[in-house]
Amino acid sequence: MARRTGPARICVTNAKGGTGKTTVAINVAGALSERGRDVLFVDLDPQGNATEGLGLLEEYDAAPPTLFDVLTDGDQRDRMADLVIEHPEMDVVPSNIDMLQAERELTIADLVARATEGEVDVDPAALSALAVNVAPDTVAGGHALDTLDDALGAVEDDYDYVVVDSPPFYGKLTDTGIYATRNILVPALTEATSERAIELLIDQMSALEAQTGITVETLGVVANRVETTGEDETMLEWFEAVFADDPVWEVRKRVALQRAFSAGQSIFAYDPSVDMADVFLSIAADLDRQFDYAEVPA
Ligand SMILES: Nc1ncnc2c1ncn2[C@@H]1O[C@H](COP(=O)(O)OP(=O)(O)O)[C@@H](O)[C@H]1O
Ligand SMILES: [Mg+2]
Repeated sequence: MARRTGPARICVTNAKGGTGKTTVAINVAGALSERGRDVLFVDLDPQGNATEGLGLLEEYDAAPPTLFDVLTDGDQRDRMADLVIEHPEMDVVPSNIDMLQAERELTIADLVARATEGEVDVDPAALSALAVNVAPDTVAGGHALDTLDDALGAVEDDYDYVVVDSPPFYGKLTDTGIYATRNILVPALTEATSERAIELLIDQMSALEAQTGITVETLGVVANRVETTGEDETMLEWFEAVFADDPVWEVRKRVALQRAFSAGQSIFAYDPSVDMADVFLSIAADLDRQFDYAEVPA
């Protein structure tokens, strides 16, 4: 059973690009909303694809404060509530062009945390002089991965789920997303390149657990863009074997998913008759089961 104290938090992640993180995040969030759950969607990817795919591209160019400031400036962490935008299906914390600086900033925060702990003989203030927002007095010791975790605490009471879309690379942003959620949902293509991507993901989870003391739960794998080739079949079997204890769902290649993205909606708002709607609804139902939410009244 996946644990939650407040709302269920989920990070949709796989460091390989183009595996369907954003598509899966938007449509799982849409399916949860369709089931009557209240969802907060957080776009942690500096490229802002989900922000675009939810029709909020103008927010990407919004002036500060943005998610960048909330994640990197301890004094602005409580401004998360100001960033929440209403979308017909869910609430959204959009990405922003400033997020392109976040990886560097969070890396400096990590160094400041280590210097503050005395791990290295460097003046934390000298490091933070290189940063835009990071200051030694607001970086927690040990690791500096708690910023999203903290920020969510202030806004999440109104929601059943927080769904975080993550960047297509390993780094501090992705670690921050996984640290905040403790739960991952993994979209993966049914092609040979996924083997290495999944092996790296498993290694990365172990490293993050060892570094921070958290336990990361895998909620399931979404085999994405599945076609009916031999390679797809072989990879599905591999997923089933590697994730023997977790659900493996199959989302087929459907142009409607791309059209819904262009329309700024999940398929539930765009065209609920698309056959893949059922898969996303069963993912949502299984998440409710895993997080021990009561049955949705029929
Ligand atoms: N099941 C699918 N069928 C058709 N196109 C898909 C499917 N899943 C994703 N795509 C498309 O593939 C591309 C990459 O998907 P995306 O969700 O952006 O991946 P990521 O966020 O992992 O980089 C996008 O153009 C998206 O519309
Ligand atoms: Mg993406």
